[in-house]
Amino acid sequence: MNSQQQSGTGGRAALEFHASGIAGTEEALCEELRELGLPSVRFNRGGIPFRGTWRDGWRACLQSRIAQRIHLLLARFPAPTPEMLYDGVRDAAWAAHLTTAQTFSVRAVCLGSEIKHSGFAALKVKDALVDHLRESCGERPDVSDDPDVQFFLYLAGDKAALYLDMSGEPLHKRGYRRDAGEAPLRETLAAAILRMSGWDRKTRLLDPMCGSGTIAIEAALWAANIAPGLGRERFGFERWASFGEESAQELRELKGELRAARAGQTPRIIAADVDAGVLAKAQVNARAAGVKLAFREQSVLDLQPDESAALIVTNPPYGVRIETDQLFPRKVMAAFCRLHGWRVGLLAGSPAYALEMSPRPRLRLPLLNGDLPCEFLLYDVP
Ligand SMILES: C[S@@+](CC[C@H](N)C(=O)[O-])C[C@H]1O[C@@H](n2cnc3c(N)ncnc32)[C@H](O)[C@@H]1O
Repeated sequence: MNSQQQSGTGGRAALEFHASGIAGTEEALCEELRELGLPSVRFNRGGIPFRGTWRDGWRACLQSRIAQRIHLLLARFPAPTPEMLYDGVRDAAWAAHLTTAQTFSVRAVCLGSEIKHSGFAALKVKDALVDHLRESCGERPDVSDDPDVQFFLYLAGDKAALYLDMSGEPLHKRGYRRDAGEAPLRETLAAAILRMSGWDRKTRLLDPMCGSGTIAIEAALWAANIAPGLGRERFGFERWASFGEESAQELRELKGELRAARAGQTPRIIAADVDAGVLAKAQVNARAAGVKLAFREQSVLDLQPDESAALIVTNPPYGVRIETDQLFPRKVMAAFCRLHGWRVGLLAGSPAYALEMSPRPRLRLPLLNGDLPCEFLLYDVP
């Protein structure tokens, strides 16, 4: 597999990919993929499709800060019955990626289809793969919890789409978080709210309740133009049969180009928390990520306007994961109200944060933090 090999369409970008993100971050993800120059990026609520070469797919894995996974589309076919699903999978072009020497797994999602059980659909896909290989090679590949090749079937109505997961471990696992506080944010969600805040990557930025430092670290990586995937040991596609020495060499070259694109000058990024223990963890994580932050042990309630206006992006504690006093949101918002001319972005798990500030937020967006419904609120402090 190399970046010139493009499904036989004479050099045109012919592979189709699909980037998925945390629910509610799709617009930010779409904007990011367009900014990365990936071809034919289209907005879609369930995830963002784009087309391109292998190199484009690898770039998305390495460079997207917001995507949770990147999938490669293998085939679309009608699958109103289990038999047609089986036949469609057998005929799809997956043989270059999975041989009997690899392990594999299948995940399926069924939406409004006759085949209602995702477990049953996944089993049909597995049978088709195994039967085909057994007939052609006399052997079968094993299923594994840590598979070399991960298939994903999306069955909507009677239409099936079969994908390969290029990411392997979800992309929020950057590799730098050595230690976390009580309620760490996914790195991809931190990157999404930074983009939603409208940060220009030049203005001073502060996370006054930084916990393990995720928001501040993601901000520093973005400002320094460091591709978040450069810290990963490997991606799912590196374990496919189609990923040989030539591909490995091309991937090394791509990583080299991305490393060389690191920006020199970055703005001051401050990570603060009232808890010295958690701040020490944030320091370890920042070092592992290779970024420089300023750290402060301070209560958000003591925050005073200093120097010039700055941007705050933060994820305050909330009842479900961390015990706090009922009046805490009110006190925090009173502290923010003193910061005239600043912009404040909050990933809040309690509606109280939306009620305590006037004027109303300029942006209010529902998001999921793990399984906790929360909101991103953006204020311009008058
Ligand atoms: C939800 S956690 C932040 C998690 C963080 N985004 C991460 O990824 O690890 C909230 C943080 O607020 C901190 N905190 C609680 N009360 C505080 C206060 N008065 N001032 C500053 N930080 C406070 C807690 O120590 C905790 O680390």
